[in-house]
Amino acid sequence: MAILFQEEKRIFTLETKQTTYQMKVDDFGFLLHLYYGAKVSGEMDYLLTYYDRGFSGNPNDVGNNRTYSMDVLPQEYPTLGTGDYRNSALVLRNHDESECCDLRYAGYEIREGKYELPGLPAVYAGQQEAQTLQIVLEDAVSKVRVQLLYGVLEDEDIITRSVKITNYGTECVVVEKAASACLDFITGRYDLLSFYGRHTMERNLQRSEIRHGSHSIGSRRGTSSHQYNPAVIVAGKNTTEDTGDCYGMVFVYSGNFLCEAEKDQFDQTRVLMGLQSDLFHYPLNAGETFVTPETILCYSDKGFGDLSVKYHRCIRDHICNGARSRRRASMRQNGSVPEYSVVTPRPVLVNSWEAAYFNFTGETIVELAKDAAKLGIDMVVMDDGWFGKREDDNSGLGDWQVNEKKLGLSLGELVRRVNEAGVKFGIWIEPEMISEDSDLYREHPDWAMQNPGRNPARGRNQLVLDFSREDVREHIFDQICRVLDQGNIEYIKWDMNRSLTDFYSVKNRQGKVAYDFVIGLYDFMEKLLAKYPNLMIEGCSGGGGRFDAGMMYYTPQIWCSDNTDAVDRLRIQYGTSFFYPMSTVSAHVSAVPNHQTGRSTSLRTRGIVAMTGAFGYELSLGKLGAEEKEEIREQIRQYKEFEPLINTGDYYRLSNPFEDACAAWMFVSADRKCVLLHVVLLENHGNMTVNYVRLKELLPDVVYEEAGSGRCYCGSALMQAGIPIPVEMGEYLAYQFVFRVKE
Ligand code: GLA
Repeated sequence: MAILFQEEKRIFTLETKQTTYQMKVDDFGFLLHLYYGAKVSGEMDYLLTYYDRGFSGNPNDVGNNRTYSMDVLPQEYPTLGTGDYRNSALVLRNHDESECCDLRYAGYEIREGKYELPGLPAVYAGQQEAQTLQIVLEDAVSKVRVQLLYGVLEDEDIITRSVKITNYGTECVVVEKAASACLDFITGRYDLLSFYGRHTMERNLQRSEIRHGSHSIGSRRGTSSHQYNPAVIVAGKNTTEDTGDCYGMVFVYSGNFLCEAEKDQFDQTRVLMGLQSDLFHYPLNAGETFVTPETILCYSDKGFGDLSVKYHRCIRDHICNGARSRRRASMRQNGSVPEYSVVTPRPVLVNSWEAAYFNFTGETIVELAKDAAKLGIDMVVMDDGWFGKREDDNSGLGDWQVNEKKLGLSLGELVRRVNEAGVKFGIWIEPEMISEDSDLYREHPDWAMQNPGRNPARGRNQLVLDFSREDVREHIFDQICRVLDQGNIEYIKWDMNRSLTDFYSVKNRQGKVAYDFVIGLYDFMEKLLAKYPNLMIEGCSGGGGRFDAGMMYYTPQIWCSDNTDAVDRLRIQYGTSFFYPMSTVSAHVSAVPNHQTGRSTSLRTRGIVAMTGAFGYELSLGKLGAEEKEEIREQIRQYKEFEPLINTGDYYRLSNPFEDACAAWMFVSADRKCVLLHVVLLENHGNMTVNYVRLKELLPDVVYEEAGSGRCYCGSALMQAGIPIPVEMGEYLAYQFVFRVKE
């Protein structure tokens, strides 16, 4: 039993393999948080202390008990207006304009299986794999009921949280802020690890102390954004990759979000994760329900490496392909199961973008396919430029009709010829966008989001379609289906190339638009996958601008960054790896000098860096020399050999490429018998110091043979002392070692 309720003391305990989470309904009906962390037994309410605190008020019904204050007590779902002056999880504006919501306990339910969220991606699990706890709280005056949902995946050490807010009153209330999870820490000093960035340089790690006052990260861009990823770690001061306490909060959502970390007057820490409160005023009429996206919580007392492995497993097995898995369960009941693989194998692809940009014809793509086939590449993806009037990025978005004049043949014919060459076919689309220079805009200018009486801001010279509107989505959906129906198209790259600005819809209530846009996007993807159950979708937003667990539910891999430079990618992929499994990290070998940085690195280095994720190429294959082609053939052979390990093995960071002289990481199989180790040297000097790389999570008492050299090492030696990396002439040299247990 992962969820226990002790009736007498009204204590809820959530147990996973290695963690305990506990909360209590107190005498006044408030739901207090007691503990989250390494496994403990017993009741943790002894941790609560009560003192008379000046200027921390007391709820009316506690009488003259000045020691009882919501401003000090740790809470599960703090609200504004009850005397807690810290950041709130929920802010409600009542019909009479009062901003107050006083939530008291009204009941609970425990059930087998994991709850689902209507219209939203969420962790999915089999009936036996998870349990759900639902705690109901109610505000007596407004009659608003809040259901706190907890999903417990015992074996995975995962607890998910989401909230349903229902208006059982007669008047409209407005949800002004709604977080999905709150973590209150009564004691301890913590750091916040967050991942900031920019276009082509996403997910840099920042570690800063949670100090007095409030520190927040988030997005108002309509997407989760390049600038801050919707995932953070709260870590003890001394926590490292291998030791110490850390708590992860991963938001399963692709739009505006807010994460707030605060140390209060009594040195207690509160961290909230949820929807952004700016640009959000969600009206709830009588009888309506609002659902917050999910936050995935995880705790480890073994440092960031262990926390990452747990998140990788959870996202890979319980988020990726969720849209399909859910449908698969219902299809299984009526006897028709679509053919697809949840994780592997991923097609090795070549994408036309950095190979040709907008400058291609159908022949270019067919030639790319023929070259691809000779190298062992599985798929050609025709990127931007195949539709409408689209010679550059200034026009054509919204006109999803094949430009047969430019291609020189129909799409059906092109796909047929690519398939004939022995290669699969994929295509790029950007459905949420509209160019002012497009037939769609000329016909429906009001479909672009814009504030009344004002000209909308442009981004990449394009506007954003109002995806909160069903009629707009339906029109685009029909157009995209007409394209997909023209041939055997097995993959799409779904792009999104600007941030939103004008959050206004002529058909929707304002204050709902940012949220409803994302719900509209999910609805579109859900329908697309229902119609094309074998279609593989790769996510993209100017590279990694929407690299989040919400998208992964529909797009099990995402173009990690528009930066394909191998050295920059080491850092981008390092930051990404803290939460997201490598199977989601789309990574390609591109030409040198690199188109984003001008840097040249060897084909070997580029191959090893790209092989860390969903592998592919993004260059003109026809321009390669014979030697390079041979090397690529070998890279693909190797990727295919190690693909199961890369996509389903455990991944460990072995260095920090922002600080160390080398970047090193490894994949290890579940039985610990096979290891793939990659190292890229970042520094090279005269009379160079030797770098030693220590491996992790091997079997200590067995002998491993390194495949290249035939040398044997004891597992404990590889972990405790490591292996020396050769000192050789050259920049950014890359090494691959394969260790297997010697039987
Ligand atoms: C974005 C993507 C690129 C490419 C271009 C096409 O920038 O991230 O990979 O598809 O759009 O316009």
